[in-house]
Amino acid sequence: MGGVVYQVYIRSFADSGGDGIGDLPGIAAHLDYLTQLGIDTLWLSPVHPSPNVDWGYDVADYRAVHADYGTLDDLDALIAGAGARGIDIWLDLVPNHTSDRHPWFRDRPEYYVWSERIPNDWKSVFTGEAAWRFDSTRRQFYLHQFTPEQPDLDWWNASVRNEFDDILRYWFDRGVTGFRIDVAHGLIKDRRLRSGEKYMRDRPEVHEIFRRWQEVAGEYIPKPTLMGETYVPLERLPAYYAHLDLAQNFPFLKADFDLDELRPIVETTMAELPKGREPVWFGSNHDHSRMATRWAGGDERKHEAALFLILTLPGSAILYQGDELGLEDGTVSKDRILDVADPPRDPERTPFPWTRGGDEWQSPWLPLADTSRNAEDSSILPYTRDLIARRRELGDGYRTLPSARGVWAYARGETTCVLNMTGDTAEHDGAILQPWQGLILPSS
Ligand code: NOJ
Repeated sequence: MGGVVYQVYIRSFADSGGDGIGDLPGIAAHLDYLTQLGIDTLWLSPVHPSPNVDWGYDVADYRAVHADYGTLDDLDALIAGAGARGIDIWLDLVPNHTSDRHPWFRDRPEYYVWSERIPNDWKSVFTGEAAWRFDSTRRQFYLHQFTPEQPDLDWWNASVRNEFDDILRYWFDRGVTGFRIDVAHGLIKDRRLRSGEKYMRDRPEVHEIFRRWQEVAGEYIPKPTLMGETYVPLERLPAYYAHLDLAQNFPFLKADFDLDELRPIVETTMAELPKGREPVWFGSNHDHSRMATRWAGGDERKHEAALFLILTLPGSAILYQGDELGLEDGTVSKDRILDVADPPRDPERTPFPWTRGGDEWQSPWLPLADTSRNAEDSSILPYTRDLIARRRELGDGYRTLPSARGVWAYARGETTCVLNMTGDTAEHDGAILQPWQGLILPSS
């Protein structure tokens, strides 16, 4: 499965060409760094040609590579280079919608969701207005859950399903070993387009799509992994494990970094997880304020506590690029904002600081304002590496153990993890815990 998954936001990771945009050769040039970090899997943000209305999440061709990032050969080389180091490559699959520049939108309009009039109260996530836009050529409205330039595909259409089976095979044949599935909970909508949020997302028919994709994945050895971006409440998460290998836990990410909030989420997740499935934990991504800011408020010890938790809970862990350094949100002035969302997501997408001076980035697409936390002299990086290495010591399962107030203790098989979730010194079973300190204790 995923193990430690490292999420690369390609545009901001490493620029090999000097144009201020990260690219695939840039990632390939940093495979040593990633190997030393100890990760198992690289999840790449969308690599495909895109007009970038939503920075790659508006795909114009599912089988090609965006010229900004390199070529198909570059991607093949990255897959091979990573594979030689035991690192898997996952791509970001965007099956809910395409770009309105995708040839399908003109040549295969029946692939999209149309209506003669605005049929319901569904709202666009980005505009907050009706999720329907009038198309003057077809003289009908089409559905767009996101921007009007991202028309939703009609997953009731058998041809759409066939197209994606082929897209999956195309990438599995090239050596891709998994997909993160964008808007996994929202692919299929109520066939009758009834009003109400519950008819727009988290529909029961969505699971059949994933069942079918597992059949496709089952044609390959080892079977590739399917991880869903599942924005659903905790009690809805187990349903997605019927056919997904991993379902992303957003209630965990969205909680405050607070014992009384997080522990019940972990306990419920573990208790409800279907047999044989594993959870996946993360505190940052390209859509949310980085955990070094949102959870830790810049406090390095608190950030280490968050890393400890994510990396010692059972299952897979995702680090968003920079989490390993305690990288905080960047500062992006109003005139540099490029994102469509409000509030904009640019602060969590700023370039990765490789050096103290930041000279590796010439006129980057988003500003690199602060390089005080960088890969060259980060004090957190050795901590993260060590923790990833020590994951091997941990046993299976999760069981909450009795502990003092403010301390989170849990058994991982024969091993005990203790995390001080306070800014004061604490104690567990005779071991002294500094503020926010986590310890892996041998079995007693
Ligand atoms: C979720 C992606 O992570 C986000 O960046 C994007 O804007 C939406 N899905 C729409 O594709």
